[in-house]
Amino acid sequence: MGIRPLWRVPGIVVRERLHSPGRERIPEPMVMDDAESVVHFHAGGAANPGMQAVYDLCARAIDALLPPGGRLLDLGIGSGRALSTVLRRRPDVHAVGVDLAPNMLATARELFVSEGLEARVELVQADITALPKSLADAKWDAVSCMWTLHQLPDFDVLDAALRQIAAVQRDSGAALWLSDFARLKDPSACPAMLQCVDPDSPMGLRQDAIASEAAAFTREELSAHILAAGLGGLHSGHATPLPYLQAYWMFGSRGKHAPTGRQDSALDGRTRREASLLRWGFTAKPF
Ligand SMILES: C[S@@+](CC[C@H](N)C(=O)[O-])C[C@H]1O[C@@H](n2cnc3c(N)ncnc32)[C@H](O)[C@@H]1O
Repeated sequence: MGIRPLWRVPGIVVRERLHSPGRERIPEPMVMDDAESVVHFHAGGAANPGMQAVYDLCARAIDALLPPGGRLLDLGIGSGRALSTVLRRRPDVHAVGVDLAPNMLATARELFVSEGLEARVELVQADITALPKSLADAKWDAVSCMWTLHQLPDFDVLDAALRQIAAVQRDSGAALWLSDFARLKDPSACPAMLQCVDPDSPMGLRQDAIASEAAAFTREELSAHILAAGLGGLHSGHATPLPYLQAYWMFGSRGKHAPTGRQDSALDGRTRREASLLRWGFTAKPF
């Protein structure tokens, strides 16, 4: 592993705090189906400590939100890594994962088979902004949407996705977990931070993360649109010292319960440290 120039982190954080707002968003293609991107993303999720730390945070959060034996609707499942982390933590949970990208869905299917999880997951090719009736009207204990909203091309499509999530939540009383990148003010902050904390990450994966942060909605934008979609009263938290990740959640009508999940024994030492740091710095969380 190369030297991590961590002494540069405080400077990056201070520059971000002092930077003027108004950075333009640079959208990415909505559906992530390009074969090379799918391979980079999927391989990164298996090996990259930063990505695995985020999956661990999401799985702990969903563990706290999902009642025993719960049914989870995961919107924008991608290659399945985030959902697989939840299902490994919670052997009592069944899920449906939705994505528009056939390559992502095929990769997710292989992952679930290889992990022996396939009996607990159904995969559906659909648009999260307009779910098929069979999903929109079904009973859910929780709805999650992880690292997906930044892929949406503009505010109209974001609003459609959030209205769809709000409708499902209202009809089923489900808990909610929405997490994503947050666009920073300083365009050089994310590339510089990745260079400091993860200098050995593959170039394709790093470019994907940089493009996704540039495409993400700011915390102000996302919280305002969540509210406008009828999702008032959500709790929220974000990463510190660099606020590059944001999350919103609510408990479902079955109320709050103690997390029952088991620790992910697959996390190695460095990933466990990154996951602890992310949790420790996150300003609020449901667990
Ligand atoms: C960056 S991936 C995240 C995958 C996964 N949740 C994770 O955290 O690893 C985002 C996924 O959302 C999917 N997506 C984007 N817009 C969508 C839409 N409108 N309907 C369904 N899937 C969508 C993309 O195809 C992509 O697979």
